[in-house]
Amino acid sequence: MLKKFRVVESSEDSFFSDVLQGLGRKQKTLPSKYFYDDAGSKLFDEICELEEYYPYHTELRMLPVISRELAQEFSGGLDVIEFGAGSLVKIRLLLEHLNGVRHYMPIDIAGDYLRKATCQLGDEFNDIEVTPVEADFTNPIVLPDNDNSITRMGFFPGSTIGNFSLIQAIALLGKFRKSLGKSAWLLVGVDTKKSPAVLYRAYNDAAGVTARFNKNLLLRINRELGGTFDVDHFEHYAYYNIQEGRIEMHLISLVDQKFSVNGVRFALQRGESIQTENSYKYSPGEFKELAKKAGWTIKRQWQDEDNLFCHFLLYA
Ligand code: AVI
Repeated sequence: MLKKFRVVESSEDSFFSDVLQGLGRKQKTLPSKYFYDDAGSKLFDEICELEEYYPYHTELRMLPVISRELAQEFSGGLDVIEFGAGSLVKIRLLLEHLNGVRHYMPIDIAGDYLRKATCQLGDEFNDIEVTPVEADFTNPIVLPDNDNSITRMGFFPGSTIGNFSLIQAIALLGKFRKSLGKSAWLLVGVDTKKSPAVLYRAYNDAAGVTARFNKNLLLRINRELGGTFDVDHFEHYAYYNIQEGRIEMHLISLVDQKFSVNGVRFALQRGESIQTENSYKYSPGEFKELAKKAGWTIKRQWQDEDNLFCHFLLYA
């Protein structure tokens, strides 16, 4: 089965070239997908435990209800493919209620972390074949052939879709549709527009975990790409940009400074920043338009009682 599962990866040194490209811009940027090395994945799990980070708790409350309803929709065999699987907490809430799941394929960029999480899951659900795939899900994915009696469902929780620009998000959902094939389903979690104060708290937690998560990207560049960042010369800064409908995370330079990455030199003035993440928030209507543009039909929608988070069931 694994042999037929192909992810068309970009070149090995894409981390280095992406970093050079981002730091070469006027507004310096770093791609948020590089947050997730082993340390970053652990810090993200810590963020999820924070009271302020409502998307995670809300989604966990919603998923058992959704999966009971999905169990009625899918009575035959089912293959589930999770894009950006992380710690595999959410999939358990689906697998506990869905009947007939034959094969579960979690895809994640943090390979060691994924393999550890998968071992335990395999023991808990031993009638389900589990195939972990270490890959960047933004690259084209070729899934194994399946006979038409097995329904395929993609799972893309956590509002990770918000970490892409509108154009990228449409392209990504289109790519998932192509990979999953005709008559497939996709369950997507989406963080909705809400009070900026609630959003601000979620990305500026009192314990400073999000700040450590943000700065870990610089430590990773130091470790893996010969970077010379002094993290104490940066401050975590996150705010809600109302016009763009997104949280922006930055690392603000506290001093005039010079640093290099594998010998390539850069400079930042005090007060300038490196933008490390966008997290777009969508009204349900905006997300439905986005999904339609990517070629999906919207079949179901769930929203929590406080209108904090949405799930959509899409059909190819
Ligand atoms: C993974 N992603 C959906 C998170 C978000 O909320 O955009 C990443 C994150 N960044 C800071 N806190 C959480």
